[in-house]
Amino acid sequence: MRADLASSDQIGPADPSRPIDVRDPLFGRYSRDGVHLHSLRLSCRSSIIESCYCRRVGEGIPHPSGAAVFNRTIGGNRMTDELTQEADRRAAEYLASVDERDVFPSAETLGGLARFDEPLPENGSSELSTLELLDDAGSPATVTSNGPRYFGFVIGASLPVASAAERLALAWDQCASSFTNSPVADTLEKVAARWTLEILDLPRDSAVSFGTSASAGGMACLTAARRRLLERKDWNFDEDGLLGAPPVRVVIPDSVHITVTKALRVLGFGTKNLVRAPVDEQGRVDPARLPELDDMTILCLQAGEVNTGEFDPFESLIPAARDAGAWVHVDGAFGLWARSSERMKHLTAGIEGADSWTTDGHKWLNTPYDGAMAICRDAGALAAAMNSDAVYATASADSQKNLGLEFSRRARGIPIWAALRTLGRRGVAEMVERHCRLARRLADGLKDAGFEVVNRVCLNQVLARLESEDATRAVQAAAEKTGRIWFGNTVWQGRAAFRLSVSSWRTRDEDIDEAVSILAGL
Ligand SMILES: Cc1ncc(COP(=O)(O)O)c(C=O)c1O
Repeated sequence: MRADLASSDQIGPADPSRPIDVRDPLFGRYSRDGVHLHSLRLSCRSSIIESCYCRRVGEGIPHPSGAAVFNRTIGGNRMTDELTQEADRRAAEYLASVDERDVFPSAETLGGLARFDEPLPENGSSELSTLELLDDAGSPATVTSNGPRYFGFVIGASLPVASAAERLALAWDQCASSFTNSPVADTLEKVAARWTLEILDLPRDSAVSFGTSASAGGMACLTAARRRLLERKDWNFDEDGLLGAPPVRVVIPDSVHITVTKALRVLGFGTKNLVRAPVDEQGRVDPARLPELDDMTILCLQAGEVNTGEFDPFESLIPAARDAGAWVHVDGAFGLWARSSERMKHLTAGIEGADSWTTDGHKWLNTPYDGAMAICRDAGALAAAMNSDAVYATASADSQKNLGLEFSRRARGIPIWAALRTLGRRGVAEMVERHCRLARRLADGLKDAGFEVVNRVCLNQVLARLESEDATRAVQAAAEKTGRIWFGNTVWQGRAAFRLSVSSWRTRDEDIDEAVSILAGL
């Protein structure tokens, strides 16, 4: 990433005392407080550095805002190096401390956030001071979800190689919309897509769209599903929209994740039109009570219920849906990764028969926030629904901008590629199996300590409670206060409960034992 400094000679006057030629297209000029300022854009073979150079003609003077004034020929590169190194140093220090940091920041620490409450600077500030403030006031106010004892939601930590790949990709600053925009992003996301289909053992010619989240991926899949079903009735959704369109029914599990309901609401299905499928005590759709399906129905199922980690019984539900001609969409935000392990895969039996699936990298694969995948068996359905070709920006149907919601985005598939390449099939399976084993260890410890474990702990989720509602709710707050662990509250089948998710690659047996001993001692 180091720029070739010698090449900078080509882009500005070699003699720093020589007046800048403001007609040079690389320089802009403006005047403030009677001082002529030259905004300087240094362009080198391997980098472009935009900076501010301030001088009276022929004389270097400090920038009125206090921003650094750079040596004209090499300063921009040197500053970028320094800044990057300083960011790296601070990031490394942060990472070295994740074992010991408060898992949730204390009220006192959060008070430091007031330092961000500044007026919009008129003249800008130095880059190093911006970074310093970010770290000094920002780092203490982080939730240490990238550590070993964060059990909240299903956040997952970030594998070092996935973060490192992201770090390099940020330097590239690629727009990952098509091969033309970024040959390397297009290539890597195609490899990541292929590997994802292999490791999740889903139909290999499915389309895979990389995006921000399972929420966004679900929206893409569900609109593709509706468009396809309407097409069957000769309805042109793209041209005619929904006014007067044949009705499309949607069946969702009673325990559906809120983001699926949100996607359906945003897409205009109307929450009161959604048909709810009754679920059993673990949150799984009960096949005996499955609402009627037909060829104008989208059936939403889930792999990894957010509280219990449970799986709908795909083996009986999906063939029934296919016989009826329905489209099956599976929300597998984290649970789909159970398929990476031969030991856990049985939980997902039959899921490969669905039409579309969503899953996250940022949860169980432990890639950095954010990155997710929408997967669609009928590649043409996703490509037709998501196409965004323009006369000035045409690309193949399998280009990412023609498969997902975003026209421009960063290459979210790169950390996913890096994680899969580094862990390999075995490494991913080992991580998944370890988390499931640790969840069982946690559940056993909680039971021994007198808690009721509500779910059967088939995956990485533990749902627990105490006898009384108040006592159950008090557990979370008391645990948070210790600074050593964090998890969230929930309501399960009308009663208060708390849920712990094991999904960080950093979590070890000792962390589980510490969590149990904290909870037992409350
Ligand atoms: C089961 C389930 N589905 C969907 C989502 C939404 O995922 P995202 O936050 O990536 O949009 C989540 C997130 O917690 C989840 O647990």
